[in-house]
Amino acid sequence: MLIEKFIKKGKEFLGCKYPIMCGAMTWVSDPKLVSAVGNAGGFGLLAGGNAPVEVLEKEIIATGKMSDHPFGVNLITLAPGYENQLDLVCKMNCKVVAFAGGIPKKREIHRVKESGANAICFAPTAPVALKLIDRGADALILEGSEAGGHIGPVALSILIQQILFQVDSVPIFIAGGIATGRMMTSVLMMGAAGIQMGTRFVMSEECIAHPKFKEVFRKANARDAVATPHFDSRLPAIPVRALKNEGTIEFAKLQLELLNRLDNQLIDRQKAQFEVEEFWVGALRKAVIDGDVSKGSLMAGQSVGLVDEIQPLKQIIDEMIEDAESELQRLKSILVDK
Ligand SMILES: Cc1cc2nc3c(=O)[nH]c(=O)nc-3n(C[C@H](O)[C@H](O)[C@H](O)COP(=O)(O)O)c2cc1C
Repeated sequence: MLIEKFIKKGKEFLGCKYPIMCGAMTWVSDPKLVSAVGNAGGFGLLAGGNAPVEVLEKEIIATGKMSDHPFGVNLITLAPGYENQLDLVCKMNCKVVAFAGGIPKKREIHRVKESGANAICFAPTAPVALKLIDRGADALILEGSEAGGHIGPVALSILIQQILFQVDSVPIFIAGGIATGRMMTSVLMMGAAGIQMGTRFVMSEECIAHPKFKEVFRKANARDAVATPHFDSRLPAIPVRALKNEGTIEFAKLQLELLNRLDNQLIDRQKAQFEVEEFWVGALRKAVIDGDVSKGSLMAGQSVGLVDEIQPLKQIIDEMIEDAESELQRLKSILVDK
């Protein structure tokens, strides 16, 4: 297969058959999904999220029992239990630790490396990418703002030119808006070591998400996956890409009301900020697990417009590879004189 040439670096780095990562998704990426990704030839990441350390430990053990294939753990550096989670993953011989949320410290990256794991970091801008490599990151994930969940400020097309085209010292995985093998081939040919998807894997049979959550994904168009509204730097909020629903409308109203109260000195800034941060607490669980698709957080990438059926995980990965291979064959037939 022609694709083998392009995936060699990524599969050797991750220790799997195909360098297709299932990005960590809080409440979604449980042992069942992560092990199914590994068993299908990809590479799954458990979501550390806000999980207490005992819960995360159980999940790591459970995933190991359900699959002999390697997997990683994603830690959010801003999570309250982050330090304890970091201690845990360093002693549990994980293959990969992916840092998300903020820029990990040099000593944190080195602790992971000393434990025998590879440290992967998200690079939302070019200067951050260089800083992370300098701090010892073994690989980078470039995630464009098309992605689902918490997003950076820059589109994938720009990150590719700013970082992928400039950096070749570490493997780079590409995320945000990818849902087809043809697109995977394109980024591999540009120099990526592999890809990461989230939204397409939500639509797998093995994914725990509530049937109502998957149903709104099935019906949604790319334009429905929008960044959370934000109006004023006095009330900062990390943007999240999710499907529009009652929750997003109420969040916009809340901010406007709080800004009005701030203007009229009816609330202090700290209290207003607290109300903004409180708004989405528990909202992802509400949507993913309870199926409250009106008020819960429907985190989804714009690639939601490219997925409209629920498939077994193995079928998703096989389809990605077949599609990627046929794209390479198509290009070969154009390039090579008959
Ligand atoms: C429902 C959902 C939850 C997510 N939660 C997390 C998370 O906890 N940590 C993280 O690093 N990324 C999270 N992400 C981002 C994914 O890991 C992945 O990078 C992203 O979905 C890729 O873009 P795509 O959605 O276009 O495939 C989440 C994405 C979704 C759709």
